[in-house]
Amino acid sequence: MLIALTRAVAPSINRCELTHVSRAPIDVALAVRQHEQYEAALREAGCSIAHAAPEPDLPDSVFIEDTAVVCDEVAVVTRPGAASRRPETAAVAAALRAFRRVETIDAPGTLDGGDVLVAGRTVYVGVGARSNVEGARQLEERLSPYGYEVRPVQVNGCLHLKSAATLVSPAAVLVNPAWVDALVFASLDPVVVDPGEPFAANALLLGDRILYSPAYPRTRALLERRGLRVVPVDLSELAKAEGALTCCSLVFKRGTGRPSSTASSPTWAGASLSRAP
Ligand code: GLY
Repeated sequence: MLIALTRAVAPSINRCELTHVSRAPIDVALAVRQHEQYEAALREAGCSIAHAAPEPDLPDSVFIEDTAVVCDEVAVVTRPGAASRRPETAAVAAALRAFRRVETIDAPGTLDGGDVLVAGRTVYVGVGARSNVEGARQLEERLSPYGYEVRPVQVNGCLHLKSAATLVSPAAVLVNPAWVDALVFASLDPVVVDPGEPFAANALLLGDRILYSPAYPRTRALLERRGLRVVPVDLSELAKAEGALTCCSLVFKRGTGRPSSTASSPTWAGASLSRAP
């Protein structure tokens, strides 16, 4: 069973951080509806949705991916690179304690989960505007006891590593080579985005399917030609906040790790859980 931990769209989202995207008004009601459709697609893919406590005054808090890296054995709560985002982590840590032992990234390390791509036991960490070398080093320290190897990679021209590269199967990476060198993913088969769709490298792989933005039809056609099942999910309002498909959830297996809470009800102190239909 997969858990997808999500968090509600904050009504303050129009005050979000922006780095590579110009500010445009976000229709909050539409963003909320699109987020609900995203959660429906997660349920369709077999996930049970758990909600971290909402943070209405933290504009970027819907982008929960940046607050933690969850492996089968342990969850590492990050220290986001943008100071405005650091208060987002407390409620996520509380929610994750129901499922995993929780460790942290500490100052002076910075790490955004959007910079972390886990491929088997290899963990690629994008070092750039948000995540620093010390953050990558601490992640290595937290994960190496479980057999993971952390590889820092340089990212240029985009916010996060997962703006530039995400898995579309356990063995294939969708990549924009203008933002990250595709050769760093040595053991993965590269699928290069259509050159006219630079933001097309963010896909959320869930078992037999990929949740994917309908904004990139040419790259979608490339994926489908490889026999991949693509499920369109439109998060156009959240894209104005420089967020994408992977940003809005933390997806992990339920039955692994060593939770620090033994609650058996579907509602825990930090997270409320709704089951797949
Ligand atoms: N607005 C997403 C971020 O900058 O972190």
